[in-house]
Formats: sequence, C-alpha cells, structure tokens
Amino acid sequence: MIYARVAGTGSYLPGNPVTNDDLVARGIDTSDEWIVERTGIRSRYLAAPDVTSSQLAYEASVRAIEAAGCRPDDIDLIIVATSTPDFIFPSTATLLQARLGITNGSPAFDLQAVCAGFAYAISTAEKFIRSGGTRRALVVGAEVFSRILDWNDRGTCVLFGDGAGAVVLEASDAPGILASAIHADGRHNPILCVPGQVSRGEVIGDPFLRMDGQAVFKFAVKVLADVAREVPELGGVSLDQVDWLIPPQANTRIIQATGKRLGPSMDKVIATVSRHGNTSAASIPLALDEAVRDGRIQRGQKVILEGIGGGFAWGATLLQF
Ligand code: UT7
Repeated sequence: MIYARVAGTGSYLPGNPVTNDDLVARGIDTSDEWIVERTGIRSRYLAAPDVTSSQLAYEASVRAIEAAGCRPDDIDLIIVATSTPDFIFPSTATLLQARLGITNGSPAFDLQAVCAGFAYAISTAEKFIRSGGTRRALVVGAEVFSRILDWNDRGTCVLFGDGAGAVVLEASDAPGILASAIHADGRHNPILCVPGQVSRGEVIGDPFLRMDGQAVFKFAVKVLADVAREVPELGGVSLDQVDWLIPPQANTRIIQATGKRLGPSMDKVIATVSRHGNTSAASIPLALDEAVRDGRIQRGQKVILEGIGGGFAWGATLLQF
C-alpha cells in the first residue's frame, strides 16, 4: 500500500503584523474590542502592493522543501490552492515552478476552492501519489486576499490577511494520509463571493469580497463538525485517537463552536487566526507548519485538517504525521 506522507512543511508571512489599532489608525470605522470579541483576530499580515501569491508561495515552498530534505527537482507535482492568483493565466503553480528552478517537466496547476483550497489540494495530491505516478508533491496554499477586500466594508476587511503555507507529500510505505473527504454545495454561492470578472479590458461587476457573515457562520459550524467526524470514520480511527484538530483559521468563535460540537478539549485544537487573520487557502498549512515547528505536532500523531470556503466547498483530511 502506498501512502502519501508529510515529509516537510513551510510557511511565510509578508512584512510586519498589522494590528486592529493600526486599522483604526488607517481610518477604518472599527475597534480592537469589536474585532477581538467577534472574531478573536488581533493582527494580520498584508503584502506590499508589488508582492504576489507566487512570491509568498515560493518562500513557503523553499522552507517546506528544506524541511523535507529534498531538492526542488525531486518535486514531480505542484498544486497551488489560491483565489488570488498572480494573473488570470498562466497559473500561479507554473510561476512557482519556474521560480523554484524546476525543469523536470512535471505537472503544475492551480486549484480554486477558496478557503477550502488546501483541503481540496492535499486530497487531490494524495490521489496522484496513491495511484503510483507521483513520488513527491508540493502542495501550497497562497493568498494576497488584501487585494480583493473593500477597505470601506468594515464587516469584511478586518477579517482577512495574506500569507502562504506549503507541504511536501511523499510516497511512503509508512502511514501518512489515512482518509480525505471533500464536498461542495453550489446553492450557497451568493453568501460568500467576489462577483466580478474581467471582460473587454474592464472589470465587470464587483471585484471585492462580499459576505453574509451570519449565514456563513451557521453553515460552516454544521458542515465542519460533520466532515471532521467523517474522516476518522473513513480512516477506521475514533475521534478520541486524534491528537490534533486544525480547523479553518477564519474566526475563533467558529473554531470554538466546531470544537464544542466534536468534543475534544480546546488544548487539542490548533488556532493561529488571532495572529494571522483569515488567510483563506493558506490558513491550514500555515497553522500546520507553526505547530510542527513549535513541537506540538510530533511524528506519529494523528491530525485532522479541515477547511471551508466560498462555493460552498469544504473538506477534511486525517493524516498520521
Ligand atoms: O471562509 C469563511 C470565512 N468567513 C467567516 O468565517 C465569517 C463568519 N461570520 C462571522 O464570523 C461573523 O458573522 C462576523 C464576524 C463576520 C460578524 O459578526 P456578527 O456578530 O455576525 O455581526 P453582524 O454582521 O451581525 O454585525 C453586528 C454589528 C452591526 O452593527 P448594527 O447594525 O448592529 O449597528 C455591524 O455594522 O456590528 C457592526 N460591525 C462592526 N462594528 C465594528 C460589522 N463589522 C464591524 C467592525 N467593527 N469591523
């Protein structure tokens, strides 16, 4: 049996943290008290105007490749989950491949499932490895979400940030990913979207993120608990045997509500949203890398990663680290 095992992780956050008070100083009609009480977010990172997703992805990938103890040319698949690509095309994954100097002709493509992007991407990469054709996959979540925020909409602009996280998955006889599940329900499209497009040289429609926060909250809490129960069942493991839960890093209240529905104590839940804000597809690998590097996640432990985003799309992976 071939498993896809995490060989290394990496992450990258651009510039300096921007606190809630910094946002107030920039003229946003909000307060540290409101943001902390409703979301748990205290700061986020915002990329400089000329910094793109592929650059953030590159920094995170270099760290993940180093941690995996391999060379860029050993990578034979790249998947980048992003909703804020550098260009309409070429894909951010091919830009990343070129930046990494990989010339072995292996496939590279983007995957768009918004904040569920990393859950979708790791599940997709696992299938390539299990089928036997791929030895080492670089799976990245990278976002410059600040580019699609309406800074006059205080209900959304305080929630998000920029960053990237990456994982090298390699084929192994030893257990790695034990189960994955991904889902979507397009009926919920309107509650979280960027309803704009480029046509005839112009932006048509609205190029900014729009969200019905309360509808998203209710939907997210329900399906995140469901899918976090689904993957241990698929993997033949009980929830009690899971060492760590990495829920989507969108909001501390969603993290707590999901944890409560599932039952594990909050000390088994990894949460970085207070310092990073919601970095969409980057948020799960960012949290994973942080917990691996600070020693909380140890080899052999079982971890559930889960994500949810616009579409709606959601998914989870159970892995043995
Ligand atoms: O991948 C999914 C990502 N999205 C999410 O996870 C978001 C899920 N939703 C949420 O976390 C919450 O719905 C929010 C944090 C977005 C909003 O919290 P809420 O408790 O649902 O607030 P609300 O939208 O009902 O707004 C309550 C009040 C309103 O004022 P009034 O009408 O009661 O006077 C808003 O205008 O809070 C006001 N408000 C703010 N006040 C200060 C909204 N945003 C802000 C703000 N600062 N940034």
